[in-house]
Amino acid sequence: MPTLPQSVHLTSAGVSALFDLSTGGLPALDHWGPALPALDEAAARAIASANYLPVVSNQPDVSFKPALLAEGHRGWLGRPGISGHREGADWTPKFAITAVSLNGDSLGAGHHEAGAATLSVTASDPLASLTVTLTSELTESGLLRTRAELTNTGATDYTLDNLTLTYPLPPEATEILDFGGSWTQERTPQRTSIHQGTYLREGRRGRTGADYAFVLHAGRPGFGFRSGELWGVHTGFSGNHTHLIEHAHNGMRVIGGGELLLPGEVTLSPGASYGSPWVYGVYSGTGLDAAAHRFHSFLRGRDRRVDAARPVTINVWEAVYFDHDLDRLKDLADRAADLGVERFVLDDGWFGSRRDDFRGLGDWHVSPEVWPEGLTPLIDYVHERGMQFGLWFEAEMVNLDSDVARAHPEWVMAPNPQRMPVESRHQQVLNLTIPECYDYVLGAVSAVLRENAIDYIKWDHNRDLVESATRATGRAAVHEQTLAIYRMFDTLRAEFPSLEIESCASGGARIDLEMMQRTDRVWVSDCIDPLERQRMNRWTTQLLPPEFMGSHIASGSSHTTGRTHTLTYRASVAVFGHLGIEWDLAQASAAELSDLREWIAFYKAERGLLLGGDLVRVDTDESLSLHGVVTPDASRALFSFGINSLTGINPLGRLRFPGLAADAQYRIRPLLIGTVPGDLKAPAWFGLPGSQETPTSSNPWPQAIREPVDLPGVVLSGAALEHVGVQAPAMFPEQALLFEINRI
Ligand code: DGJ
Repeated sequence: MPTLPQSVHLTSAGVSALFDLSTGGLPALDHWGPALPALDEAAARAIASANYLPVVSNQPDVSFKPALLAEGHRGWLGRPGISGHREGADWTPKFAITAVSLNGDSLGAGHHEAGAATLSVTASDPLASLTVTLTSELTESGLLRTRAELTNTGATDYTLDNLTLTYPLPPEATEILDFGGSWTQERTPQRTSIHQGTYLREGRRGRTGADYAFVLHAGRPGFGFRSGELWGVHTGFSGNHTHLIEHAHNGMRVIGGGELLLPGEVTLSPGASYGSPWVYGVYSGTGLDAAAHRFHSFLRGRDRRVDAARPVTINVWEAVYFDHDLDRLKDLADRAADLGVERFVLDDGWFGSRRDDFRGLGDWHVSPEVWPEGLTPLIDYVHERGMQFGLWFEAEMVNLDSDVARAHPEWVMAPNPQRMPVESRHQQVLNLTIPECYDYVLGAVSAVLRENAIDYIKWDHNRDLVESATRATGRAAVHEQTLAIYRMFDTLRAEFPSLEIESCASGGARIDLEMMQRTDRVWVSDCIDPLERQRMNRWTTQLLPPEFMGSHIASGSSHTTGRTHTLTYRASVAVFGHLGIEWDLAQASAAELSDLREWIAFYKAERGLLLGGDLVRVDTDESLSLHGVVTPDASRALFSFGINSLTGINPLGRLRFPGLAADAQYRIRPLLIGTVPGDLKAPAWFGLPGSQETPTSSNPWPQAIREPVDLPGVVLSGAALEHVGVQAPAMFPEQALLFEINRI
């Protein structure tokens, strides 16, 4: 038996993770939080020993700490890391380490120090005939992510019901922030407190979900965007899953998650393995922005880069819905190209009998009825105008009124051959775990991509998976279905390496870090109303950098809320993501088109910063919003100040701009693009022509700004901008004004 390490300390980007392996059992985290200085063996041993609970009356007579995969044999009575059994036995394993490696190199005795690195611990229970490998990686940006691989080494089947990975939480972390929501209301924040028991967020929708926890945070009370210490987890999985915080019987708190397995979904035959999703842990000592930056750097560093030069996109959905007419779409393409649009996306309705959402889904051949000459005439037209061409698919789904469902009813998910699940958006789910069905879907999509010059696909997923099972056997199939869609995306990307994929699921119901390993953009929400969207975008950036976030300017009257907003407000919100248009431009007025042209030009000139900068969000009352992006060298910034609603406070007071270099001097000035926000009243510092630095009652400055004007603003230090701020302008509610901040 090799001599095993006692402890491993990983530290990167201001975060430390200190693993205690000294028991010979699965690793426990002695520390996950702010970076510790380098440790020697004695120091690591001292921390390990300082971390044992006292033995108290009426609790197990042992002192212990729960492992990342918590086990009952130590005395842990909270949720076990593994729930499973072999005909009722072997349900409470006791693992002993057999091998430990760091970045693939085997580790010997003693204490080990490393920076960003991957620790892999393999442990076995010969009595239960199980082996598990826990892989924990501290990334360059300071994220701690862990996954487990469980192997059945016995001679009989092992049923796995659940596998949960957890990280320790300190007792000071008493406040929870996570997210709920629904269609058109994705990522609605909610706060509560930790109490004894389990705070459990289950996602049982068979997709990530519009209402899922997203990132489950626990922190010191009152943590905000720029302040407060917090710990968070994100389960990187696009099927059923959990996020949880447990305040256990012995006062210990853990935070974690995993996949949520349906009954019977995972039975490991002898030699078979189950791989869990990555459970990501994020720590910040300075609030939510710093936590978001860790996720952003992680995604910005992925192999398949999404750079900041995201092409201005037009998606035709809200312009034409199912009404596909070549001449009308060509006209839209002309109008879009003329404005400077760079990508044209044809949405739902181009295939089979899909003239509405009742029929045709699943028949992935170009409809001869609406496209008698195929898609080529439109694709060529779009390409000739210098735009990329994108196409919509929803290939995991089927309308029962379709050729494919009629030919292969056995491919439709159902709990048994006698009963169908309820319909949702008039559709059912195709069973990609059936090899012939998988081959059909992959073959049909690939054929369309081979036969047409398509640069981009928008991949939709418009219903939850309810009672989703293989019809013939009744076996639940969400787990395998989720792995199948990952496999399909991997296969498509291998054959079409330059193809970009957008993840859409009735809007933003499939946004998670495993999907983001395979897709390049998300559709944040079907709600493009800027008042709602600014909130959804603000919180979506807790996980995703803005260049991944599809952010469109729609028509003045929102199709999902009926509210009407000015173009200036719609555009001010949209330019802080991957800009698109989703609007029948033939209905836009000359003035709107002229403004739109200006906004597109602004986005193109500034997208390096808008989509490549560091995110800054300022804690404000819900009635206001203030956020921006700053270049990594803090030389430039763009901010947006929005008034969401009136609260009776007028004027609004000071706006403070963090994220800049304290000693540097900056000029801050308002940017007026297109039509001026309604009833904009300038404070003195705008430097409106004719105004004075210090107004007097006999000589008040002119305040109202009605026409775009170049305003000089004021020069202030980074420290003054952050700590003193400038007076907010007055304007109508549901308006926003941009500020440019340049280092002098
Ligand atoms: C839902 C999406 O979110 C919309 O953008 C659009 O693609 C429709 N599906 C099409 O059916």
